[in-house]
Formats: sequence, structure tokens, C-alpha cells
Amino acid sequence: MFSTLVAVALSSSLFLTVNSQGIVCNVTSPCPESTPCCSEYGYCGTGNFCLGGCNPLYSNSLDSCLPNPLCEDATHTFADNSRILTNASYFDGNASEYDWVVDKGSIINTNSSGGELGLILTETNGGTRLSSTRYVHYGTISAQLKTGRWPGVVTAFITMSNIKDEIDWEFPGANTTTGQTNYYWQGVIPNATHGQTETGVSDTFANYHNYTIDWQPDALTFSIDGNVVRTIKQADAVDPTTGINEYPNTPSRIQLSLWPAGINSSAPGTVEWSGGMIDWQDPDYVSAGHFYALVQSVSVKCADPQSPGANITSYVYGSNQTTDTPAIAFSNQTTVNGAGHLCEIARFGVLGGTAVSWLVPALLGLAVALV
Ligand SMILES: *[C@@H]1O[C@H](CO)[C@@H](O)[C@H](O)[C@H]1NC(C)=O
Ligand SMILES: *[C@@H]1O[C@H](CO)[C@@H](O)[C@H](O)[C@H]1NC(C)=O
Ligand SMILES: *[C@@H]1O[C@H](CO)[C@@H](O)[C@H](O)[C@H]1NC(C)=O
Ligand SMILES: *[C@@H]1O[C@H](CO)[C@@H](O)[C@H](O)[C@H]1NC(C)=O
Ligand SMILES: *[C@@H]1O[C@H](CO)[C@@H](O)[C@H](O)[C@H]1NC(C)=O
Ligand SMILES: *[C@@H]1O[C@H](CO)[C@@H](O)[C@H](O)[C@H]1NC(C)=O
Ligand SMILES: *[C@@H]1O[C@H](CO)[C@@H](O)[C@H](O)[C@H]1NC(C)=O
Ligand SMILES: *[C@@H]1O[C@H](CO)[C@@H](O)[C@H](O)[C@H]1NC(C)=O
Ligand SMILES: *[C@@H]1O[C@H](CO)[C@@H](O)[C@H](O)[C@H]1NC(C)=O
Ligand SMILES: *[C@@H]1O[C@H](CO)[C@@H](O)[C@H](O)[C@H]1NC(C)=O
Ligand SMILES: *[C@@H]1O[C@H](CO)[C@@H](O)[C@H](O)[C@H]1NC(C)=O
Repeated sequence: MFSTLVAVALSSSLFLTVNSQGIVCNVTSPCPESTPCCSEYGYCGTGNFCLGGCNPLYSNSLDSCLPNPLCEDATHTFADNSRILTNASYFDGNASEYDWVVDKGSIINTNSSGGELGLILTETNGGTRLSSTRYVHYGTISAQLKTGRWPGVVTAFITMSNIKDEIDWEFPGANTTTGQTNYYWQGVIPNATHGQTETGVSDTFANYHNYTIDWQPDALTFSIDGNVVRTIKQADAVDPTTGINEYPNTPSRIQLSLWPAGINSSAPGTVEWSGGMIDWQDPDYVSAGHFYALVQSVSVKCADPQSPGANITSYVYGSNQTTDTPAIAFSNQTTVNGAGHLCEIARFGVLGGTAVSWLVPALLGLAVALV
């Protein structure tokens, strides 16, 4: 079957290519005004540093990052890869133009059975990760996928917010009858819970299964083929020592990935968890020239706590927040990089319609520039 795989994008590069240079940013050291946006990799910059993964808490101000594109109900299929931008560096934030961006690595399309997206892992490409261009702020997300089957190679279907709330389905390739569920709150595994292994799944490499993350404000449910395997109640996610509720609560992108855990640069525990070191002499790898995982479809049913009104385009982090529960608000501002720029307004010469929302940030920008 490998010979029927057609490469549509090939690349070899370091694991972190996008947004990975500049001044370091973190919780104690937010970005300066000149390079206001803290990328997901922890570096300050402008342009696409302000897009997907831009961390508002480590940026110059809470509104330095561009607003996060609003959730939309959808079923993404992969008859071809035309809705996927193969290099996230070229994304401008327009979620109407692409449904997914490739953050790193390379993808293929099988062009069979109606088309399937293939995520590629080679010894040199460091694995592949795609992110949805839209965010989900609670919702039901399902992926029909086939995992890898190789020790050290991990297939993942997760949600990830810009402040690193995370909900995971992960499949270490050494065991193709299990799947693991987990969640993180602001980058840490909550004290109240931990990862869990779901067993008795029929061969996850040979068979498509429907893996679901049902993330609602009051409970998080994981299912396989419609059967619930794990439920976490929001009310139970309280840290016993601090009293902080550590339930994921910020808008998140959907991410699909195939990543190398069994390599020298991984922590020993990660290597062990993933089933050991990757065997680059594996016959599957030698014959195909890569490891892969296949995705047939991803469906999204949004469940925003309030329904967005007319003209709402995005989510923003509000100033009314505590560390544990950032305030998330709807916004009608553009999510597109550069679209709020004065010259764009001048060029289009519009004061009505959707351009009205560009005017406010543009004028504020001018005011700042004149001071
Ligand atoms: C944050 O970044 C600063 C500046 O690079 C660095 O000195 C500091 O150690 C970092 N702090 C953390 C917690 O990583
Ligand atoms: C398979 O699909 C890709 C688009 O993802 C297209 O570029 C390629 O030409 C197709 N190959 C065949 C053999 O149809
Ligand atoms: C976003 O992309 C859509 C579809 O390609 C296009 O119609 C729209 O003009 C774009 N919006 C901006 C602000 O670039
Ligand atoms: C994406 O494009 C950037 C800028 O041209 C380049 O540096 C990077 O290597 C590309 N990434 C991939 C994965 O091809
Ligand atoms: C996979 O995990 C299940 C459950 O822990 C275990 O029973 C089974 O033996 C494992 N299979 C392999 C090949 O390790
Ligand atoms: C996957 O399971 C979810 C949850 O049960 C369901 O809503 C969805 O329709 C299923 N998707 C497919 C393609 O079967
Ligand atoms: C979780 O527990 C550890 C000790 O077990 C403690 O150091 C840490 O502060 C706790 N986490 C939070 C967020 O309170
Ligand atoms: C990884 O570590 C092993 C054992 O220390 C060593 O033999 C091997 O050369 C290393 N591989 C790479 C790519 O560094
Ligand atoms: C902050 O949010 C809380 C809860 O939604 C609300 O009760 C309070 O009035 C808000 N405060 C301000 C200053 O907006
Ligand atoms: C955008 O929202 C602001 C207030 O939040 C409102 O004044 C403005 O009319 C809205 N613009 C559009 C196009 O809906
Ligand atoms: C939405 O935008 C239209 C056109 O700009 C405007 O007439 C309408 O008042 C806006 N609605 C809301 C609720 O802001």
C-alpha cells in the first residue's frame, strides 16, 4: 500500500522552525513592546508570532496576540489536502482560507477510499504536526484515524490552548490495542488526576476508530466508537492543596500529530512510555521510507457557553481574569495579520461593512505612533 502514497509536501528541518527565534518570553519575563507577541515556543516577535499558539499571558499585553478564530461546526474530510496550508509560516490568520496548517513536518494524501490525510515521520523530519486554524471553546471533537504501530512513534489527537490547556488522545505505537487519555491545565497535569490507558481496542493500526473528546463546561468525556471510556467532572478538578480548579477552560486548537518519542533527545521516561527507541531499520520504514498515521475525518460540534451574536469572529482574553480562570470574551475584530493596518484601510477605502472593525485598532495604532 505504501507505493500508492503520494507526497504532496516534503520537508526536512529542525523540529521547531516556526516562531523559534528572538527574545525568550515566559511567566516572569513577558515580551517588550517592540516584539509584543510570545510564540508557543517561547520567543518574542511580530507577524505570525501573534497567530496560533501566541501566549497572551507571556506577551506584552493581553491583547498583543491576534484574536483566535471562532469555532465553527464542521466535518473535515480529506479527499485532497487543499484545505491544508503545508507551511504554517505562511499563514496570515484567515481561517476561511485554510482549515489546517502544518506546523512542522510533511503530509501526504493516500488518494484512496475517498482520500486520507497521512502524517509522515522520518529520521530527519522530526515528525509532523497540524493545527486547526479555528479554535474550540468547549465542543465535541471526533477523529477517525489509524495510528502508527512502531515502538517510540506516537500518534496524537489533542486540543491545545494558547496558555497550554490540553486534552489528549495519545497512542504510543508499541501497543495497538490501547489508547491513552490525559489532560493538562496551563501546561501541568492537574494534581487531582492523571493519564489513563483505555484497553481492549481492536488493532488501532489496522482499523479506523472514532476517538472523541467531548469537552463541555461541566464535564470532559472521552469515547471510542461512541462508547464512553472516561469522564472527568469539572467540579472534581480542584487541586486539593491550592483549591484552584484545574479544568481546561480556554479556547483551543485541534492538533493531529505523529511524533518521535523514542529518540536520544527525549527524557528516559518518555522513551520508556513510548515503547522504547525507534527502530529506523523497521521493515515498514525501510520499504516506505517513512512512518505514518492516517486521518479519515475530523468533526467539530461547537459548544460555546454563550452563543456568539452577529458579526462575532473570534475569541479574546479579557482583562477581567484571575490566574486560574482567564476571562474569555467574543470579539468582532479581524483574526488576519495585517488586516487592521492603516494602509489596508486606505487601499480598500471603506468605512462601512466589516471594515469598520479594522478601524478601531488601526486608529489606536496611529495614536500610539504619534505619541
Ligand atoms: C524567563 O526568561 C528570562 C529571560 O530570558 C530568564 O532569565 C528566566 O530564567 C526565565 N524564567 C523561567 C521561569 O523560565
Ligand atoms: C493525491 O492528492 C493530492 C492532493 O492532496 C494531489 O496533489 C495528488 O495529485 C493526488 N494524486 C493522485 C495520484 O491522484
Ligand atoms: C479570507 O479568505 C477568504 C477566502 O479565501 C477571502 O474571501 C477573504 O477576503 C479573506 N479575508 C481577508 C481579511 O483576507
Ligand atoms: C516553512 O517556511 C519557512 C520560511 O520560508 C522555512 O524556514 C521553513 O523551513 C519551512 N518549514 C517547513 C516545515 O517546510
Ligand atoms: C498492550 O496493553 C494491554 C493492556 O495493558 C496489555 O494487556 C497487552 O499485553 C499489551 N500488548 C503489548 C503488545 O504490549
Ligand atoms: C464519532 O462519535 C461521536 C460521539 O459518539 C459521534 O457524535 C460522531 O457522529 C461519530 N463520528 C463518526 C464519523 O462516526
Ligand atoms: C501539586 O502538588 C505538588 C506536590 O505534590 C505541589 O508542589 C504543587 O504546588 C501542586 N500544584 C498546584 C498547582 O498547586
Ligand atoms: C543515541 O544513543 C546511543 C546510545 O548512547 C548511541 O549509540 C547512538 O549513536 C545515539 N544516536 C544518535 C543519533 O545520536
Ligand atoms: C469580572 O467578572 C466577574 C464574573 O464574571 C463579574 O462578576 C465582575 O463584575 C467582573 N468585574 C469587572 C470589573 O468587570
Ligand atoms: C464590533 O463591536 C463593537 C463593540 O464591541 C461595536 O461597537 C461595533 O459596531 C461592532 N462592529 C460590527 C461590524 O459589528
Ligand atoms: C453587524 O454588522 C452589520 C453590518 O456592519 C451591522 O449593520 C449590524 O448592526 C451588526 N450587528 C451587531 C449585533 O453588531
